[in-house]
Amino acid sequence: MKLMAINGSPRKTWNTATLLKKALKGAASQGAETELVHLYDLNFKGCISCFACKIRGGKSYGRCAVKDNLRPVLEKIATADGLILGSPIYFGIVTGEMRSFMERLLFPYFTYTDPPQSLAPKQMPTGFIYTMNITEELMKEWGYQQLFDNNQRLLQMAFGASESLCSFDTYQFKDYAKVVADRFDPEQKARRRREVFPQDCDTALAMGARLARTPG
Ligand SMILES: Cc1cc2nc3c(=O)[nH]c(=O)nc-3n(C[C@H](O)[C@H](O)[C@H](O)COP(=O)(O)O)c2cc1C
Repeated sequence: MKLMAINGSPRKTWNTATLLKKALKGAASQGAETELVHLYDLNFKGCISCFACKIRGGKSYGRCAVKDNLRPVLEKIATADGLILGSPIYFGIVTGEMRSFMERLLFPYFTYTDPPQSLAPKQMPTGFIYTMNITEELMKEWGYQQLFDNNQRLLQMAFGASESLCSFDTYQFKDYAKVVADRFDPEQKARRRREVFPQDCDTALAMGARLARTPG
């Protein structure tokens, strides 16, 4: 069983990466081989609309034809047994890099047939981990749930199964005293980091273990 995780945060040791690492630890506890890819290490773009992945009988049918840093990652995912994406929320959606990655990963797999079909080489369990500054209450008020549901539906359409995990009210800066951010109470943020974030880590650990046990 090989589980891959994709970090859509520019930060390699902060909230999103920490939760992804916990998920991989959970998967490893079930004997899975794991790998974490940091998207911001890679030089790549989103879908360029070449449609090589859709050409009848074409040599790239069902596969992204673009040759850049993302290609080996997409090839590895095609042979993996499980996949977890992770992204901070930037202006109400996933980061630009995560969005570009999702275009390249998913568009080649979806056919313009009726009904649409998935050309993914295999079905596998998938998960999505989101981290964000706002509270769960505000997330609901601001309608973020629709984004999470939509991404879950896309991953389900491509790979068969998907689940989501949210970490709210994250700790954003190393030192709150140094930034202009009066809206946040540094002590409340630190308390949440101490008391709630470890629970989110446990939830991520359990998610990774569950995905590793789920047959593709
Ligand atoms: C450019 C930018 C935009 C952001 N926009 C939002 C937002 O719309 N909603 C939100 O809840 N948090 C927002 N945040 C906060 C991050 O989502 C949050 O701090 C996240 O946990 C960071 O993940 P990381 O620690 O893995 O980098 C934003 C942060 C940045 C840098």
